[in-house]
Amino acid sequence: MIPGRDQDRVIIFDTTMRDGEQSPGASMNLEEKLRIAAVLEELGVDVIEAGFPIASNGDFEAVKAIAGRAREAAIAGLARASRKDIDRAWEALSRAQRPRIHTFLSTSPLHMKFKLQMEPEAVHQAIADSVSHARKLCDDVEWSAEDGSRTEHDFLCRCVETAIKCGAGTINIPDTVGYAVPEEFGALIRMLMNRVPNIDKAVVSVHCHNDLGLAVANSLAAVGAGARQVECTINGLGERAGNAALEEIVMALRTRQDAMPQKTGIRTEIITKASRLVSTVTGFPVQPNKAIVGANAFAHESGIHQDGMLKHAGTYEIMTPESIGLGRSSLVMGKHSGRHAFKAKLKELGFELGDNAIEEAFRRFKDLADKKKDVFDEDLVALVDDQVVRSNEHIRFVSLQVFAGSKGPQRADLELEIGGETKSTTATGDGPVDATFKAIKQLFPHEAHLQLYQVQAVTAGTDAQAEVTVRLEENGKTVNGQGADTDTLVASCKAYLHALNKLLTKRRKTAPAALSA
Ligand code: KIV
Ligand code: ZN
Repeated sequence: MIPGRDQDRVIIFDTTMRDGEQSPGASMNLEEKLRIAAVLEELGVDVIEAGFPIASNGDFEAVKAIAGRAREAAIAGLARASRKDIDRAWEALSRAQRPRIHTFLSTSPLHMKFKLQMEPEAVHQAIADSVSHARKLCDDVEWSAEDGSRTEHDFLCRCVETAIKCGAGTINIPDTVGYAVPEEFGALIRMLMNRVPNIDKAVVSVHCHNDLGLAVANSLAAVGAGARQVECTINGLGERAGNAALEEIVMALRTRQDAMPQKTGIRTEIITKASRLVSTVTGFPVQPNKAIVGANAFAHESGIHQDGMLKHAGTYEIMTPESIGLGRSSLVMGKHSGRHAFKAKLKELGFELGDNAIEEAFRRFKDLADKKKDVFDEDLVALVDDQVVRSNEHIRFVSLQVFAGSKGPQRADLELEIGGETKSTTATGDGPVDATFKAIKQLFPHEAHLQLYQVQAVTAGTDAQAEVTVRLEENGKTVNGQGADTDTLVASCKAYLHALNKLLTKRRKTAPAALSA
């Protein structure tokens, strides 16, 4: 028990940008990570794991930039148990108000023998060395026993005791492969609380993967047994089947205070915003029946349920939609709304834009209001997101005319501005989307492969804006592009161009000579 700590307060450690980014296809660029970090701070996350600084220059720069901007949250960077990793993590983190070095090493017999090819004694020594080294650099050190749930208890207790002795203030027990079941995992945490002599000097944390769909249940069982930090991700993003979903952990604790008295510091009304941002940036849609943030989580279809809801919302709703920030879509403004009201609305939605960007957004809002009868908050968010995404692009969308329908071939007449020069072409294809993408390829030849094409409506109704995600792969690198427009094909074209522009940025960073396409 750490003196002065509220014993019921659970620390929320978000690893969307580290473990979450390890999901194949979920890579995020610096600008996207900064936007996610800002929303995580607004959400009230206690610790943001911003990346794995030694993994790549991109990760290093992202951790450094987030560390420099974060105001409230502690910023963690991951490091293996080596001096080189730990020094690099510290280099990225040192500007943070509250830096945390998170170092880890596998402790299970399987991992030690086959992955590390190290004897247990050598592992134990490496834990002492790495934690001591990290602690010389940073006051806040977390140590994780990778594959902790499959580690022999005596050895785990010894490693944990040593890590605490060497200065780790947080001890994290991961269920790395999502193998544990709740009763057993809770018992493991209880065993550590009872057997490790200096456990009262550290916060016990858990990090559960969802391979058996038990990540949230295991995390909550651990909290019941004394864990006071939970590592989790927005929308449950993460390696393989993902990590415990932040929104599920937080809302379970909030909704069932009668059964679980522990609480978090999360501003739950920001959950929907965070979920949508992560889904848009990664191109990973949220399944409609996903707990808390799925599109159907607060929808009532059957007549009996609707009747019950009209009589008393509590009949079929255990949480209010407002509690997760899912207010009724509010009508924003129409085409007669003025600049002043528009500016105020953007501020309310959390956008701080410069004068030029506001002018541009206002002009685009007027265009949208001409095309679409009702403009909702979600439309404005999509519009501004689209604008932010498109600034500084090498390849810019100018116009698109598509001939579609049952009497093919479908044709796309496309005009783009490439490096300041306007170019146009016509292409035919197997459907209007194919024709559009082929036209892009004619104007800007490239070898990237399309891995994902996904369309979502921003709001209800046939005049809704379409939000399109395109994932492109080139030489093992994947990027996601987004585009929004009332015309699905224009949105598709913009999303493809956004992804292509991101690939160009990546190429520019790695091989300047390869830029001529
Ligand atoms: O799953 C895991 O074990 C991890 C550790 C690095 C914390 O992600
Ligand atoms: Zn993990």
